[in-house]
Amino acid sequence: GKVAVLMGGASAEREVSLMSGTGVLAALRSQGVDAHAFDPAERDLVELKREGFARCFIALHGRFGEDGTVQGALELLGIPYTGSGVMASSIAIDKIMTKRVWIAEGVPTPKYRLLAQGSIDRRQVIEVPDELGLPVIVKPAREGSSIGVNKVEGYSGMVEAVDAVLRLDSQVLCEAFIEGDEVTCPVLGTGDEAQALPVIRIVAPEGNYDYQNKYFTDTTQYLVPCGLPAGEEEAIQALVLKAYRVLGCRGWGRIDVMIDKATRKPYLLEINTSPGMTSHSLVPMSARAAGLSYEALCLRLLQAAAL
Ligand code: DAL
Ligand code: MG
Repeated sequence: GKVAVLMGGASAEREVSLMSGTGVLAALRSQGVDAHAFDPAERDLVELKREGFARCFIALHGRFGEDGTVQGALELLGIPYTGSGVMASSIAIDKIMTKRVWIAEGVPTPKYRLLAQGSIDRRQVIEVPDELGLPVIVKPAREGSSIGVNKVEGYSGMVEAVDAVLRLDSQVLCEAFIEGDEVTCPVLGTGDEAQALPVIRIVAPEGNYDYQNKYFTDTTQYLVPCGLPAGEEEAIQALVLKAYRVLGCRGWGRIDVMIDKATRKPYLLEINTSPGMTSHSLVPMSARAAGLSYEALCLRLLQAAAL
């Protein structure tokens, strides 16, 4: 039957989603799938049913797409979709809820402090570095692609950084900065069958893997094989699989990790339950290193679509 590639959407990552969706659509069509683009920001999801779509490939990122809302609508419509279900999606979009689950399950993640709109006083903001050290990472709890992420180097930058994040999200995540290797590790599959793909090490210009360096420059280096010391890649893969399973994720995901330079200890930052599929994106890169082409990856994800 017909497949809808959900792309675009109303989040701050709309532009990224359009790039992901364009790639997925072409890949599915090249494999003989009767695939069509569908933008939930322009059309009501109910039309999927009216137009006889049998399955959806979710290539949406961020809120209203990766956060359980679209997943819930598709559950009600009875249309199978790729990736995680409602609960895992809605926990994973929220970096604070994700940390709470991981901490409860013994998955290492950087120390943090939550500042929630309405209950923030200036003194509390200025004291964050006392607790977390400097630099501090200040970011929206529910954004992606590094949108709104600030690295604060001194006490004086805290208030401005928090105010900037509050323009994007009512939940401000302040996180201890881990200096060291930046890596990411995709997971494919579900439950006991889930597998970690090769780890990618990211070397961005001046360590700044921001929105521009993620999608639009060619100066970021991606190393796969990652070249980490013996045993570290396997240890990260095992940890990432555990982190994926405790959240109840399904289909696929990608977990971003920092490895502390001094201790070599890995810290998990977050999980993306609808990872980027652009020409610069990391799941396709890692899959290719494991012998899975972009086209085969898209088909495999679609075949695992479920309710
Ligand atoms: N949030 C972007 C799409 C990613 O993690 O790939
Ligand atoms: Mg993310």
